[in-house]
Amino acid sequence: MSASRKDDHVRLALAQHENDNANGVKPVEPPRPRSQFDDVHFVHHALAGTDRDRVCLRTRFATLDWPVPLYINAMTGGSPRTGEINRDLAIAAHETRLPIAGGSMSPYLRDPSTAGTFTPLRRHNPGGFVMANVNAGTDPEQARRAVALLDADALQIHVNAVQETVMPEGDRSFGSWPAGIERIAAAIDVPVIVKEVGFGLSGRTVSHLAELGVAVADVAGRGGTDFARIENGRRPHGEYAYLDGWGLSTPAALLDARGRGLPLLASGGVRHPLDAVRALALGAHAVGVSGGFLAILLDGGVNALVREITTWLDHLTSLMTLLGAHHPADLAGCDVRLTGSLREFCALHDID
Ligand code: FNR
Repeated sequence: MSASRKDDHVRLALAQHENDNANGVKPVEPPRPRSQFDDVHFVHHALAGTDRDRVCLRTRFATLDWPVPLYINAMTGGSPRTGEINRDLAIAAHETRLPIAGGSMSPYLRDPSTAGTFTPLRRHNPGGFVMANVNAGTDPEQARRAVALLDADALQIHVNAVQETVMPEGDRSFGSWPAGIERIAAAIDVPVIVKEVGFGLSGRTVSHLAELGVAVADVAGRGGTDFARIENGRRPHGEYAYLDGWGLSTPAALLDARGRGLPLLASGGVRHPLDAVRALALGAHAVGVSGGFLAILLDGGVNALVREITTWLDHLTSLMTLLGAHHPADLAGCDVRLTGSLREFCALHDID
């Protein structure tokens, strides 16, 4: 069941990203479907630029030190096909120096014979920054096993109540998650990152996570891969279609969650390097991409993904040069204006 679910997720996520690209526009180029990222505008200051050779992509937050402010976010593992995907993602991460997270390791924790579908993340990326991924109901001993299998540098815990609710075979008990997260954070000797899976972390949630001993929060907001739609697509009658649009977009989540006691990562619906720079300007320390990179990998193979990521890193450098940011953290000082529904969101929530 679990292996076929993992294959379903890849197939259905891919269908979403193919729809997003139905006009044949290359993913690095805007525009694609309207996103709240389009409500984030840099005021153009013609003399603000710096020299390209003074720009450094390195980003430091919590105890982490990443060579680039871009990472491949959690996706898969657990079936033979997804093991091959993990191998290819790891090769791309290795060649581009991107940190990478594996998908949920629940399949491995239930059935150790699936280990070989996750281990390529480390085998093909020996010196890279690798994150293991577990759910909030995992006990600390299992979390340690997940970290050990990948010799992981950090542990992601996903909180995905919306997905579980729509998933036909999903969990229905979420009340123990805060205590579970606290137990794992206390027991694990690598930094713990808590992430959503595309519905966003609110400011209140991030404050709560800070109290639980978490090191970093990945807001993983709405706007990209939509797990309500994916799980609804696995139901014969699609009964949960009305949940479309649930959650906080990635820019809204960043605005709500900044200053709440934890360093933030941004993922969810990051379409191109300008969205990445927008997320960094709203306070993220690095930006994650999942579905968009998966679509490129499955369409064009590892070399296409390496080319794409290389282009993103090149464009990130160009945009930082244009905006006068020597380091990703400098982008937070840029002159930014919000419009449209994102501005309305800020007014409603008293966010300056
Ligand atoms: C995911 N995502 C995910 N997240 C997680 O924490 N554990 C997981 O096992 C998975 N599995 C998974 C499978 C597939 C096929 C996709 C595309 C995504 C969610 C992912 O990490 C991210 O939070 C969201 O997908 C939003 O990012 P994008 O896809 O909009 O860039």
